[in-house]
Amino acid sequence: MPAISASAPGKVILFGEHAVVYGRPAIAAPVTQVKAKAIVTANPRGAPGEIRVQAPGVGLESTLEALDPAHPLAAAIQGTVYALKVKRIPACTIRITSTIPVAAGMGSSAAVSVAVIRVLSAFLGHPLPDEKVSALAYEVEKIHHGTPSGIDNVVVTYARPVYFIKGKPIEVLEVERAFTLVIGDTGIASPTAAAVGEVRKAWQAEKSQYEAYFESIGAIAQSARQAIESGGVELLGPLMDANHGVLRKIGVSCAELDSLVVAARRAGAWGAKLCGGGRGGNMIALVPPARAEEIAKALAAAGAVRTITTVIK
Ligand code: MEV
Repeated sequence: MPAISASAPGKVILFGEHAVVYGRPAIAAPVTQVKAKAIVTANPRGAPGEIRVQAPGVGLESTLEALDPAHPLAAAIQGTVYALKVKRIPACTIRITSTIPVAAGMGSSAAVSVAVIRVLSAFLGHPLPDEKVSALAYEVEKIHHGTPSGIDNVVVTYARPVYFIKGKPIEVLEVERAFTLVIGDTGIASPTAAAVGEVRKAWQAEKSQYEAYFESIGAIAQSARQAIESGGVELLGPLMDANHGVLRKIGVSCAELDSLVVAARRAGAWGAKLCGGGRGGNMIALVPPARAEEIAKALAAAGAVRTITTVIK
């Protein structure tokens, strides 16, 4: 049997991170320049039912049995097997590789889960529909992130720009006029769970203040949706700046993110903001396409360990 493979892209949150955990809308888009990939190969000479898991990027080489059931990869595999109600699993090896930066706000954990769920369900002869893939990946996200909104698993599963409200049906966004982003990585690893947990503590301590912050971020995301759907790309820059301003007040920016945001604007970006959990990880800048290279260079000079230029369409 030939090897089977599946992949899922990285993602950026264009508008609405953190507030989305509290029921406000957010907008996210796939970043296809980076991806997680899973390959399954049958092991005809392996013990029946034995699943071997390899993730060389994190030095993991194990049988499924020996993995902690709470390990996200074990949870993704077990969740798939359980959902399919498969009794007999042919011995196989699942190998996972990813080019998505880890703990950087680019959806690496969701993309790994989606790739694994897709490839294993295909290998077992029952490829799951996107809706089910995303729902299973959400269960794994809860292990990674505690109280995730679910936006990451949705955007990397559907690999389309989405407008997302927790618990509501997903809405794929029609981008009227494509726009260009430069993504800059601070190089600071910042697990989403930690940032989300800190925000929760602050929200508990100052509920009405934080609800007001989330409300204004939600309003920004709504305006951004209209701008994206009507081709008003020039409106998105100021909306990004405004969103970054509120994220700073919420306490999820940091000096490195702020200086990349300032560097992008100085170099001619129309707007910029942190993206994802914050406190490190990545920022995005909305740029005139002809200046993308120059702005990427300015970000590198201001300390970005890497930049990615991507077109949202
Ligand atoms: C993470 O990509 C976005 C956050 O809003 C967390 C979540 O939505 O689960 C920070």
